[in-house]
Amino acid sequence: MNLSQRAYIRISAALPAAFSFRTDLLFPRLGLPELGPFNGQLKRQEIIRELLAATSFDEIVETGSFRGTTTRFLSDVSGLPVHSAEIADRFYRYAAVKCRGLPGVRLYHADSRKMLHILSKRPGNPALLFYLDAHWQEDVPRYQELEIIRARWRRAVVMIDDFRVPGDPGYQFTSYHGTPLDVNYLPELPGWKAFYPKSDSADETGAKRGCVVLASPELAPAVAALSSLRTGELTRQSIANG
Ligand SMILES: C[S@@+](CC[C@H](N)C(=O)[O-])C[C@H]1O[C@@H](n2cnc3c(N)ncnc32)[C@H](O)[C@@H]1O
Repeated sequence: MNLSQRAYIRISAALPAAFSFRTDLLFPRLGLPELGPFNGQLKRQEIIRELLAATSFDEIVETGSFRGTTTRFLSDVSGLPVHSAEIADRFYRYAAVKCRGLPGVRLYHADSRKMLHILSKRPGNPALLFYLDAHWQEDVPRYQELEIIRARWRRAVVMIDDFRVPGDPGYQFTSYHGTPLDVNYLPELPGWKAFYPKSDSADETGAKRGCVVLASPELAPAVAALSSLRTGELTRQSIANG
């Protein structure tokens, strides 16, 4: 990051969100880097395309819209309704501009858990694809997001960004309050299966962030058949060893 980018980030953070999102739109290269959908990762985008082709999802749910880049992509590649929650006023406003004119996209200026609660109250047994990517705040919603999903949706596939990929240290991952984001971080998910990218991190593009794909018992067989994913372990013990 060069000097002008650092200065822009510091100065714009002091501005009201109603103003800073406009300067972000005016000077897209100056602020936080914009890598493209799914951190600019083409292999990851392939996983999404495969998931969409293999399963008849009814809707997609993203947590953490940021600039709306992945939100747009998900709408474009799927043609499905996309729900996305963003807690920060500045990013919500930005994403709203970027997703303007996409009739299938519904943005929530809300905590992701609140959006999930709203969605969970609707009747029916839809198949949902979740992309969990809300963080950067002290209060990380990941664990509770998964609890809400597990309790409500029987037909669910969940991709979690920034996840540790066992056996491939080239994939970057995050830690929350000193705890790495891996299977040890997850709530109990009885009967669910875990999958990791089959591609080596060396063949991935963009930020090379790791991910896990979790599938509910009903959808796991379809996900297991995908060529872009390999089966992983969901038990805490085995990951601690691996
Ligand atoms: C890594 S960025 C999301 C990137 C985006 N999904 C993409 O692919 O371009 C994380 C975003 O999550 C937002 N966020 C953090 N905590 C949140 C919460 N509890 N609910 C909703 N959004 C949250 C942050 O403000 C930030 O914009």
